[in-house]
Amino acid sequence: MKTIKEIDISGKRVLIRVDVNVPMDKFQNITDDTRIKGILPTVQYALDHHAKVILASHLGRPKGKTVPEMSLSPVAMRLGRYLKKLVKMAPDCVGSDVEALVNNMKTGEVILLENLRFHQGEQDNDENFAAALAGLCDVYINDAFAVCHRANASVEAITRFAPECGAGFLLQNELSYFKKAFDNPARPLVAIIGGAKISSKLAALENMLKHVDKFMVGGAMANTFLKSMGIDVGRSKTEEDLVITAGNLMKKADDKGVIFYVPVDAVVAGSQDAEVDIKIVPVKEVPEGSMIMDIGPATSLLYEEALADAKTIVWNGPMGVFEEEPFSKGTLTMARSVAESSALSIVGGGDTDVALHKAGESERITYISTGGGAFLALLEGEPLPGVAALDKVNMAGN
Ligand code: 3PG
Ligand code: MG
Repeated sequence: MKTIKEIDISGKRVLIRVDVNVPMDKFQNITDDTRIKGILPTVQYALDHHAKVILASHLGRPKGKTVPEMSLSPVAMRLGRYLKKLVKMAPDCVGSDVEALVNNMKTGEVILLENLRFHQGEQDNDENFAAALAGLCDVYINDAFAVCHRANASVEAITRFAPECGAGFLLQNELSYFKKAFDNPARPLVAIIGGAKISSKLAALENMLKHVDKFMVGGAMANTFLKSMGIDVGRSKTEEDLVITAGNLMKKADDKGVIFYVPVDAVVAGSQDAEVDIKIVPVKEVPEGSMIMDIGPATSLLYEEALADAKTIVWNGPMGVFEEEPFSKGTLTMARSVAESSALSIVGGGDTDVALHKAGESERITYISTGGGAFLALLEGEPLPGVAALDKVNMAGN
């Protein structure tokens, strides 16, 4: 894959696809700007090398319509503050007004195009839309790791129309850390997987079994594993149709010599909302009317001990309903355990990132991915459409 460093960008119109799909509150205040900080090295590099910088991103899911609350203008302001220069907000991402704006740019200027998903062509991977975007630039750079699992026009089809294509530093970094963890990792390689559902992570679980030495599960998905072992989990969330699959996964792990850890105790409650009857119980003694809300302290200790010899750790998904204080300990303790380990640690998935910040441990993690779905797609072992498109076009000698 060609990188921005291998392309002459001086004086050129450089369109950088970024993913600044950041969370905002109802007043459009940005509540977490990790993804904005993530693109700064590439944007600054392009400015330092005298490019005309055109940034393109989506925000939310406006489904092909202009939704004013999903405008990227708050991002332009924040970005301008970090770059210490004006980031001009374009009225749209394609069309004659935008073309005029771009054609009047001077080197060292930055324009942020309006939300790509205001046009249906973006998510349809439409070639006409992609060609219109490509028409704005001399060089296309993909630095939008978090959306590379989507075959969208600005990440996939555009590579067939842009004169020259390459990858930005964030995309490169994400892929290289992931490679470090999965291709020839320092062992033991330990995977910690949590979150609500097995169904959304089944392909990732299957693929990871081929790579890891130890597997630890938590979150509501662990309940289905417990159930497959014949454990009665009361009213806890389970996926009935996946109980057999969960059992088969554990058997497969066993056959491969992968050590598979499930929780041994849990924080349970009578109901999630009322937070009543909160107790810590062994998983084999979950009261009939109770729900498992978090892993318990014995599990936290067990997982910490099992992490002690880890050389590489990959973590995705919380251990419990960590947004609620009484059920946050399992996830926050896990954050501390991973942070304290001397292993190469890679954490991905939106919620896990939030948990790390909440635990105040984000500085002690080797790499925190900006991708949620994209990180999961990497765990599934499938090529990401955005990355594959860059590889293809560069292989063809572009
Ligand atoms: C994300 O936050 O997951 C990416 O920006 C992609 O957005 P999407 O899930 O709406 O496609
Ligand atoms: Mg997503």
